[in-house]
Amino acid sequence: MEQDDPGEALSELRERRLGALELLQAAAGSGLVAYIAWALLLQPGFRRVPLRLQVPYVGASERQVEHVLSLLRGRPGKTVDLGSGDGRIVLAAHKCGLRPAVGYELNPWLVGLARLHAWRAGCAGSVCYLREDLWKVSLRDCHNVSVFLAPSVLPLLEDKLRAELPAGARVVSGRFPLPTWQPVAVMGEGLDRVWAYDVHSGGPNGQASPEPSSASVPGAPRSQVG
Ligand SMILES: C[S@@+](CC[C@H](N)C(=O)[O-])C[C@H]1O[C@@H](n2cnc3c(N)ncnc32)[C@H](O)[C@@H]1O
Repeated sequence: MEQDDPGEALSELRERRLGALELLQAAAGSGLVAYIAWALLLQPGFRRVPLRLQVPYVGASERQVEHVLSLLRGRPGKTVDLGSGDGRIVLAAHKCGLRPAVGYELNPWLVGLARLHAWRAGCAGSVCYLREDLWKVSLRDCHNVSVFLAPSVLPLLEDKLRAELPAGARVVSGRFPLPTWQPVAVMGEGLDRVWAYDVHSGGPNGQASPEPSSASVPGAPRSQVG
């Protein structure tokens, strides 16, 4: 609308500028709060992890946890969750008899939370949550591996799993499939979907080599890793 009185127009313009400035300040303020929350709660532990390998915390859904357990239940050997978050998968694995169950997690707040959940569930002394960088832990004695990580890091993870896992190990990947491995089973839909992969035999350099699976899930397509 046209303004006839230049004085009125000027004061209206000032008011509008003030409004915009307040908005800008509010946005900057909330950005700062978000940054502080990120730096204090999510960033600790990740300082030495390259940015491209940093995966934020998102808890597995209840269904997702159920599918992971369905694909691992009854298997012997050590079970690990790489990037265990608040420990829900490790705790559920321990409760369904997968022992020992170990979670590796870099974020100390999440490690603490996981331990608290374990304590509240009466499993404090029996499940293990370690503040470790998943890229640095050895997987040579791990027979059941659960991962729920970002697609961007999965190619590198494939290399690590291929190099370190013993023959007979099973990997279950939540929400995102491993990019080049062939699953032996897939469970669930959409965000709850989980893929299972079997490692068949370790070569001289620990490389998984393509051999028929002896531990494939009934009804699933036979396939192998490597
Ligand atoms: C998508 S969340 C999954 C959490 C949990 N596995 C679950 O399913 O509920 C990924 C987790 O991996 C952790 N993480 C990311 N990079 C890591 C690293 N290099 N070492 C250990 N943990 C890591 C994150 O802190 C986060 O808790």
